[in-house]
Amino acid sequence: MRIQTLSGYIHEYQKSIINPEQFWARIADEFYWKKPWSKTLNWNFDEPKIEWFVDGKLNITENILDRHLYTMKDRPAIIWEPNDPNEDNRILTYKDLYEQVCQFSSAMKAQGIQKGDRVIIYMPMVPEAAIAMLACARIGAVHSVVFAGFSSSSLADRINDCQAKMVLTSDGNFRGSKKIPVKDVVDEALEKTSSIEKVIVYKRTEQEVKWNDDIDIWWHDAIDGQPKECEAEEMDAEDMLFILYTSGSTGKPKGVVHTCGGYMVWTAFTFQNVFQYMQGDTYWCTADVGWITGHSYIVYGPLLSGATSLMFEGVPTWPDAGRFWEIVDKYKVNQFYTAPTAIRALQAHGLDPVKKHKLDSLKVIGTVGEPINEEAWNWYHTHIGKTSCPIVDTWWQTETGGIMISPIAGITPNKPSYATLPLPGVQPVIVDNDGNELKGNGVEGNLCIKYPWPGMLRTTYGDHERCKQTYFSSFKGMYFTGDGVKRDHDGYYRILGRVDDVINVSGHRMGTAEVENAINEHPRVVESAVVGYPHDIKGQGIYAYVIADLSTRTEENLTNEIRDMVANIIGPIAKPDKIQIVPGLPKTRSGKIMRRILRKIAEGNTDNFGDTSTLLDPSVVEKIIEDRK
Ligand code: WT7
Repeated sequence: MRIQTLSGYIHEYQKSIINPEQFWARIADEFYWKKPWSKTLNWNFDEPKIEWFVDGKLNITENILDRHLYTMKDRPAIIWEPNDPNEDNRILTYKDLYEQVCQFSSAMKAQGIQKGDRVIIYMPMVPEAAIAMLACARIGAVHSVVFAGFSSSSLADRINDCQAKMVLTSDGNFRGSKKIPVKDVVDEALEKTSSIEKVIVYKRTEQEVKWNDDIDIWWHDAIDGQPKECEAEEMDAEDMLFILYTSGSTGKPKGVVHTCGGYMVWTAFTFQNVFQYMQGDTYWCTADVGWITGHSYIVYGPLLSGATSLMFEGVPTWPDAGRFWEIVDKYKVNQFYTAPTAIRALQAHGLDPVKKHKLDSLKVIGTVGEPINEEAWNWYHTHIGKTSCPIVDTWWQTETGGIMISPIAGITPNKPSYATLPLPGVQPVIVDNDGNELKGNGVEGNLCIKYPWPGMLRTTYGDHERCKQTYFSSFKGMYFTGDGVKRDHDGYYRILGRVDDVINVSGHRMGTAEVENAINEHPRVVESAVVGYPHDIKGQGIYAYVIADLSTRTEENLTNEIRDMVANIIGPIAKPDKIQIVPGLPKTRSGKIMRRILRKIAEGNTDNFGDTSTLLDPSVVEKIIEDRK
């Protein structure tokens, strides 16, 4: 079902609220089910328990591959543009994709993978990453993609948490001018884990790798002689499709669980409506498959819709800052979806790289991952969209599975830096800190969702209690997003950013506690506190206040060591931008760090700290302000 007018949107939205079950049953009916569902929805947000399309049986890959084989077998499913513009590109039609997914499914089965087993995917942005995900889905294995920029300890933590049996990886990754030794990272991770039986290695960079004949097998050897047909496993609508780890305000990253039926319906519906994709268009999302955006809007949503999805291996600024725009022209991209941080980074390179390209194929441009400031929005609108492309500022989360609040391209009137209105099926509410719903327009508070939607998370892997605590306990009977939001006088939503201890660096989510724990691993560090601060390009930067013993090193040496430590433990994306060595941290008498004060200092806002009467030692604050970075 595609919404085509504003009144159509209003009408469908109403229907989705008045009778959600009827609404979603009609959408789900557009797919191929092996067996129909008996009840559309079972739910309560207290346990929480959420079941969509109860007892329905399906395989999501039949809806991506088999279904499109008859109608569009020669249409490109994936267009792959390599890191290096001088290397050949690859185009996989729906038929190619069918065969390659089936063949890799057969290969994984031959290596002992069965329905329900967990498989880690730690790969570059090559078509094989998507093939790997779909092959898991085909045989009922649960994939967990780990962004290939994460460190070996982050990878090991995830392997251990879900007790994965297999890792799919590559010898190395090309990223800009760099060659990253990915297989080495996997080898290191395996020293800290014991559940992995096989590692399948895709040859990409042809760099030397260590080899263990008992465990390692080359991708090309694994598929050699395997049939290009593989029966799709019958899955329950509520069987796990994948786990994706994401950071929260406390503890280690948690495994967000998505299931087969609801996720399928949600990603396809939101993709088709938000982007207004028309058959024959070329669509490009610049995310990495290691994040939820890549899952939902490079792989599942577009391919379920029979779309042509462009996949790019490289980075926006190599060989030069015109790389994105060159690709848009090369493939006549119609829908382009990226992150505000990329827009701001490219904006900083000026207009020359943009002017060399026509960009006249673009119909819709989108953003995701963090609030987009008005200046970046206007630049994107003027110079990329040439003032004629609608912008879809799409608000959603790993946990929501797909887009929740967003304009419908060309239909919902835009307003710079507003995610605008909820999609059908999404019932946002704004509550104050005491949990009172703030009704009407012109209000600001915590963003919650009060009714289930098909794409929502079902649990956090291996720890349902944590799911309940994190999302369903702050405000009774509601899913809490962790975001602050404003609803303006027109009823439009503007996302204000996280209200918990999560920072959003270049659209990547980081828990402050996670970064602090990594910093504290340094033997000279006594204690640390991490906060976010406004950063021109990244949206938020990481500011670390550290109490440390400087008797054996210079401040510069120590801060460099701390940065390396964080890169080693989490990954380079978590490296603090600023590290300030401090004599103490502002604490309350009961020993709690007053992060509010630290946030203000990091922002450069040092005159009004609000109520500081509970502060144990006010002189600490003065000293911190004096030495501010
Ligand atoms: C957090 C979720 C959704 C895929 C990428 C990030 C922030 C996301 C927007 C937007 C303002 C946004 C929120 C959210 N966020 N999109 N359009 N405007 N903020 O997924 O890593 O799960 O992070 O990203 O703070 O809670 P994620």
